[in-house]
Amino acid sequence: MGNVIKKLLIGLVVGGVLVGLSRWLEFPFVFQMMFFGQAMFGAAVFMLLDAPSVRTMSGAKSVIAVVVFYIMLCTVIISGASMWPQFDPEDEKGKIAKILEPKRKATEQGKAEELIARAKALDEQVKALEARLKALGGDYQVTKELPVVVPPVTTSKAPAGDFMRLGEEQWQLQECYNCHKLKGEGGKKRGPELDNIGSYLTVDEIRQKIIDPKSFMAEGFEKDWEKGKMPDKFKEVMEDSDITALASWLNTFKNTSVNTPKPIKKK
Ligand code: HEC
Repeated sequence: MGNVIKKLLIGLVVGGVLVGLSRWLEFPFVFQMMFFGQAMFGAAVFMLLDAPSVRTMSGAKSVIAVVVFYIMLCTVIISGASMWPQFDPEDEKGKIAKILEPKRKATEQGKAEELIARAKALDEQVKALEARLKALGGDYQVTKELPVVVPPVTTSKAPAGDFMRLGEEQWQLQECYNCHKLKGEGGKKRGPELDNIGSYLTVDEIRQKIIDPKSFMAEGFEKDWEKGKMPDKFKEVMEDSDITALASWLNTFKNTSVNTPKPIKKK
């Protein structure tokens, strides 16, 4: 009996030290209790070592005893473990949802705000442009149904070459070359060659074609136009200024020796 008390005391001291240490290291409370439990479990094991040994068994009886002991052990461990809340997957799912929900809401709101800000900036640009045109004395009116060509703003600050390079970059980035041959490169015969597109379409019209692929139809590509082969996603994935740069760059292609089909206005 004295031995049991001694081991219990040692267990309590070890447990106390562990709790103190884990608290100092800022472990969560559950962990502190777990460390304490572990120390007590160790003490119990050492106490059990003092217990009088079971009398010797043999034959079928011993096999049954071992199996029963094993089943008991498993039951205790599994039921004990499943009592901890963190082993419940539903509990985990709830926790994860709680963490992710505000983040998801924040990003959605962020996106909407960004779009609104971009639309506002664009509107400002249009207004500035109108004012500038009026100041020039022309009676030019910005028509509402056409997407306004924002003149390459960059040209006033940066050399025109940069702007054209931006356009070429967009050609690569948006993978227009997947369907269109240009300078003899790209295109898997899905769309027309564009080397002479500048002879047919203005910058604004090319912009329109990119923003709304249904606006123009390449002659001889009726079926592809009907089926909407050219993706209708660029207005969403591209910045307005990028579309202008790409359209301006394409407009410089006026190679009449290449058979670019004539675009037919549809809208
Ligand atoms: C998945 C294939 C595909 C991709 C990608 C694609 N297009 Fe097209 N495009 C077509 C097809 C097919 C046509 C012909 C039918 C039509 O006019 O809609 C076409 C037509 C055009 C025309 C009119 C050509 C003419 O001669 O009338 C222009 C300009 C054009 N695309 C520009 C672009 C630009 C710029 C990009 C990249 C931002 C692009 N396309 C990406 C398939 C594609």
